[in-house]
Amino acid sequence: MTSFEASSIRTWRLAPLPWERDALEPHVGARTVELHYEKHHRGYLEKLREAIEGKPDAQLDLEELVRSSHGHVFDLAAQVWNHDFYWNSLAPDGARQPEGELRARIERDFGSFDECRRRLAEAANGHFGSGWAWLAAELDGRLRVLATHDAANPLGGGLTPLLTIDVWEHAYYLDVQNERDRYVAAVIDHLLDWEFAARNLGRAGQRG
Ligand code: FE2
Repeated sequence: MTSFEASSIRTWRLAPLPWERDALEPHVGARTVELHYEKHHRGYLEKLREAIEGKPDAQLDLEELVRSSHGHVFDLAAQVWNHDFYWNSLAPDGARQPEGELRARIERDFGSFDECRRRLAEAANGHFGSGWAWLAAELDGRLRVLATHDAANPLGGGLTPLLTIDVWEHAYYLDVQNERDRYVAAVIDHLLDWEFAARNLGRAGQRG
C-alpha cells in the first residue's frame, strides 16, 4: 500500500489533488496548479492509456508498472506516479519541521535539518534541465538527497522516496518565470509536508 492515493491505470482515474487549487498561493499560483494538474499530469495519463490500454501492462498497479517498464511507457507511467507523489509532498498547512523518528534520521544522516534543506535546494536548483529533486531512504535506511532527469525516480534504484520537488519548468514558470530558485525556496520554506515524508519513512521501515 502507498501512503497516498495513486492514479489508477485499471480505471484510468487521475488521483485527485489533496487540496483546493488555490491552496498553495501565494507560493504556487492556482493557474499553475490548474495547468500542471489538468494539462501535464492528466496528459501523461491519457498518453499512457493510448500506449497500453487493452495490454497486460494495464492490469498492473501504477507503481508496479513504473518498476517494470522501460522507454516510452516508463516515461509516461513514471510521470503520472511522480506527479501523484509531488502533490502529496506539498501541503498548505504541511508540517514545517520534521519530528520524531524522521527528525532523528535527518540529523543522523545530514548533521542537521538545515543541512538537509540546503542539500535539497542545491539538488533542485543545480539540476540541469527537466527533472525532480528527492529526499529518499536507501535500502539500509540511510537518507539521501538526489536529483533525477526527466521522468526518472528513485524507485528504480531500490530507494524509497520520502518527498519530491518538481523542477520541470511547468512547475514554476507562470509564477516566477526562469527564477527556479525562488520557487524552490518557497516550496522548501512553506509547502513541503514533513508528515507525508514521515509516513513514507514508516513504509520504508516496514519493507526493510
Ligand atoms: Fe510537473
